[in-house]
Formats: sequence, structure tokens, C-alpha cells
Amino acid sequence: MSTYVVWHNTKVTKTDREKLNSHKGVCIWFTGLSGSGKSTIANELEFELNKIGVHTYLLDGDNVRLGLNNNLDFSNDGRKENIRRIGEVAKLFVDAGIVVLTAFISPFREDRNNVRKLLNQNEFVEVFVDADIETCETRDSKGLYKKARSGEIKDFTGISSPYEEPIEPEIRIESGAKSIPQKNVEILIKYLTDLKIITTIN
Ligand code: ADX
Repeated sequence: MSTYVVWHNTKVTKTDREKLNSHKGVCIWFTGLSGSGKSTIANELEFELNKIGVHTYLLDGDNVRLGLNNNLDFSNDGRKENIRRIGEVAKLFVDAGIVVLTAFISPFREDRNNVRKLLNQNEFVEVFVDADIETCETRDSKGLYKKARSGEIKDFTGISSPYEEPIEPEIRIESGAKSIPQKNVEILIKYLTDLKIITTIN
């Protein structure tokens, strides 16, 4: 990086943007195995937040890997860079006063913690979407586990690549075979409103 780059403060601040939105900017970071239900729950939560007037954006692993991060693979380094970039993007959204939801496997604790460090306290809500590998493999919504087992896909999370569970996530969502996404969304909304992370406009 060039030494001749300096940070410019903007005249319109994050607080100004948040005031206009009537809520704070925050990053809700979903992590979990492929097929654990991250995208489904994040989608449902975004839908509910949108209904009550919260400005949101959802960054989803598959979608981002088709665009911004289409030059990254699933090696450890590829995943690390994936999460680093998403962390920076999420930070911009928070600065814009938006509630940004991210749904990435984000398998490494260190990478997730690095994103946490980019943001202020209370601006990063780590949500562990906890479904065991057997449940995810049974669901196999995209048929990828089958391909991973046959060796067609290498470095597949939970099979041939590690997943490090969060130790102290803000929220742990039970996303096993019997879970109901709607119930989980209610838990999340309650958490966010109780802590005044989101304030709703009537
Ligand atoms: S991460 O590990 O770098 O955070 P990310 O969330 O962006 O992963 O992408 C995961 C999605 O990519 C999965 O839901 C799956 O659809 C697809 N995918 C393709 N190859 C792999 C792989 N080797 N491991 C995990 N997911 C994969």
C-alpha cells in the first residue's frame, strides 16, 4: 500500500446517515456450514426488517462469489481473502447506516474476528447457524455434498476442509432438521430490538 494515502473524513457522518434512516448501521454476520440455513434465515430476517422500515442489504456467499469475488477459490487463502473483502464491504454498509446481513460459511475464527475488529462494539452480531454436518448433508439442497464425497469437489467445508465453530457468538441458532426458520427469525428480531440495535419507525 502506498504511504501517500490518507483517510478523508466526510462532511456527512455515519451519525447523520443513521438519523436519516431512523436506525443504526449494524452488521449481522451469519456463519455455518453449507446447507445450514444461513441464506434462508438471513433472507427471512431481511424480509421482516424491510417490512418495518429498516434499510437493509443482504450479501450472500454464492452471489458475491459470482461477482466481486469471482477470482477467488475455496483454498484457505481464497476463503481468507473472501472474508476480508466482505468484512470491508460490510464496514462500508455500516458506515452508510445500513443493516447489512452477510451469509458466508466463513469457516475460520480468526477471519471472523478480524471483521469484528473492523467495526465498533455492538456493530457486529455474530450468528452461528448451527446444523450438524449430517443434517446439512441430508438436505444437500445444491447436490454439493454428494460431489464432495465422490471427490468431484475438493476442499469442501465439513468434508475435506475445516469449519471452526464460533466460541462466543452473540446468537446461536438451532438449525437442525426440526427447526423452523420463522421461529429463528423471531429470536433474532427480539435480540436486535431488545439491545436497541434496531429501532423501528411506526
Ligand atoms: S467461504 O468459505 O469462503 O465463506 P462462501 O460462503 O463464500 O464460502 O461460499 C460457499 C458456497 O459456495 C457454498 O454454499 C456452496 O454453494 C459453494 N461452494 C462451492 N465449492 C465449495 C467448497 N469447496 N466448499 C464450500 N462451499 C463451496
